[in-house]
This record gives sequence, structure tokens and C-alpha cells, in this order.
Amino acid sequence: MARIMDGHALAEGIREKVREDIEKLRQYGLEVGLGLLLVGENPASIQYFHATEKACSKVGVTTYRYRLPESASLNEILNVVHSVNRDERVNGLLILFPLPPRINARRVVNEIAPEKDIDGLGSLSVGRLAADESTFQIFKEGYYEMLYECRFMPTVSSFLPCTPFGVIRLLEHYGAAIRGKHAVVIGKSLAVGKPLSLMLLAKEATVTVCHRETRDLGAFTRQADIICSATGVQGLITGDMVKEGAVVVDIGINVLGDGSIVGDVDFESVEKKASFITPVPGGVGPVTIAMLLENTVRSAQRNEFLKSPFMPG
Ligand SMILES: NC(=O)c1ccc[n+]([C@@H]2O[C@H](COP(=O)([O-])OP(=O)(O)OC[C@H]3O[C@@H](n4cnc5c(N)ncnc54)[C@H](OP(=O)(O)O)[C@@H]3O)[C@@H](O)[C@H]2O)c1
Repeated sequence: MARIMDGHALAEGIREKVREDIEKLRQYGLEVGLGLLLVGENPASIQYFHATEKACSKVGVTTYRYRLPESASLNEILNVVHSVNRDERVNGLLILFPLPPRINARRVVNEIAPEKDIDGLGSLSVGRLAADESTFQIFKEGYYEMLYECRFMPTVSSFLPCTPFGVIRLLEHYGAAIRGKHAVVIGKSLAVGKPLSLMLLAKEATVTVCHRETRDLGAFTRQADIICSATGVQGLITGDMVKEGAVVVDIGINVLGDGSIVGDVDFESVEKKASFITPVPGGVGPVTIAMLLENTVRSAQRNEFLKSPFMPG
């Protein structure tokens, strides 16, 4: 029977550290702020908007809410992004997706100032991840603290997308080895699958990326030491597709008719074969929000370093 990778427990640890960091910044009179931009009335986005607000208020991050109607023009949306870029109170901007289909989402994301791109989706952030300029963040717990202590922050790094960053944290927290393992990632989106495959590669896994056009998905997953599924297809991964002892991370979220939430993985059949498994809900989800808080506080710390390298200790 698989060991459960409990996202709530890890998230609480991350939040606790975030609270401490915010407290330290307050000693210098600095507040941490997160901007939330929601366009339209997508129910899942509204839910995530409120969940993020609540998580922020619990750790002491001030939220700045920007809500625009579904009919908002690209110009109106970009005006919000530009005003956030100039607003010293806001350390990061989270845009809730999907944006209305007539809006070119890449235009919007690429307008976020890289130092406020706390979900790492802008082209510069994506490139820095691919070029291994940001991946030091997935290597050593305490690395940031060390840099903070010695008053140094690398200037050529960006923030890592919160969900895949959280998956790596979960694997490390539970001691699941990555180096030399065969990781199969299902899904190749810019927010989850693609950055996760780059992070696993940076951690020296052998990585296979599967997607909608992959023929015979099971032939790949059965070879995997680590399976990470991020598709939003309920029941995609079943017990017969999993090798004995594999580590299974379920990133998918599917809301059923009765309001309950399930992932991509058929938990009942897979937990019998896996060595570790994440539940849905309660696995990757809570860690994603915790990573968002962590990236936001890092942004606040980093901005202060850039503005004032001789900040008193
Ligand atoms: N837990 C969390 O914190 C969290 C955070 C973000 C997202 N999610 C969830 O994770 C899931 C993925 O999110 P996303 O933003 O990456 O979604 P997305 O942009 O829709 O991407 C889905 C990916 O799954 C692939 N796919 C779809 N059906 C497939 C199939 N039958 N076999 C193999 N691959 C298939 C797609 O392949 P193609 O590219 O070929 O179309 C695509 O790459 C969703 O359920 C989302 O709600 C959870």
C-alpha cells in the first residue's frame, strides 16, 4: 500500500517559514503585497481567487484585487498589469486563467515585469528555467536563506511556476529519489507539464513527456519510476498502467457533478501498487498555494536587495 504524500502538512511548514520571513521584513517597515487579476466570472477562477486571498491574509500578505468584466479589452487588462508593475506595494501579480478567449494571454503575461512574475509564466522566466538560470531554487533547502544572510541575490534568475515547484518540493520532502530515475510527465502545458519536465531534467531524471497525441500511454507509464499526471482527465491513470513501487503524483483537478474533486489517477487501484501517492484533494493543491506565498515573499526580499544592497542587518 502506498504512503500518502500529504500536501497540507508540507504546505503548513512552508507557510510557517513565510510568516517568519514576513515578520523579518516588517522589522524594516516593509510589507509584502500580491496582486490578483481576475477577468470575467469563471467559477473555478473565482474559487481560486478567494482561496488565494484567504491564504494571503493568514500569513500577512496584503492582497490587491483587480477585477474586470468578461468584456474587458486587451488595453484595459494591460493597463492593470502596467499599473501593478509600477506599484511598489505589489511584489507579485497572479493572473487567473483562463482569460476570455479573444484575449491573447501571452501578450498579457509577457507584460508582467519579470521581477513580479511570481508564477514564472512570462517568456523570460520560461527561458531562464530552460537555461538553468533559475533551477538553483529546486536544489538546496535553505539556499535562499543563505543568500539572504550574506546580502546577495542572483540577478539573472526568475521565479519558478508554483505548481511544478510544489511537486518537486513534495517529492523531496517525502524522500522520493529523482536523480537517475525515469520520470514520465503527462501533460505539456506551459503552467505545469512543460516546466515540471524541465525541473525533473535539472534534477537529473530521465524524462519522458506524454500528451494527447501519445500513442499507448500505458507503455510509457509502466516504465516510469515517477509518474506525474497533469491533464484534467479523470481516471486516466489506472493500476495496470503503474509499475510496482512507482511514485505517483496526481496534479489533475476534476470537479464532479456533486461538487466533489478528483484527480487524473484512479486512486483505489493505483495506491495498491505505488510506493508514494498524492491524494486529490490534499496533495499538490495546498502546496501550490504555499509556493505562491513563498515566491511572493522572495520577490519582496529580492526587490529590497535590488533597491538597497546595504540594508541594515
Ligand atoms: N493542483 C494544482 O495546484 C493544480 C494547478 C494547476 C493545474 N491543475 C490541474 O492540472 C490539470 C492540468 O492543468 P493544465 O493547466 O496543465 O491544463 P491544460 O493546459 O489543459 O493541459 C492539459 C495537458 O494534458 C494533456 N492531455 C489532455 N488529455 C490527455 C490524454 N487523454 N492523454 C494524455 N495527455 C492528455 C494535453 O495534451 P495536449 O497538449 O496534447 O493537448 C495538455 O498538455 C488540470 O486538471 C488543472 O485543473 C492543478
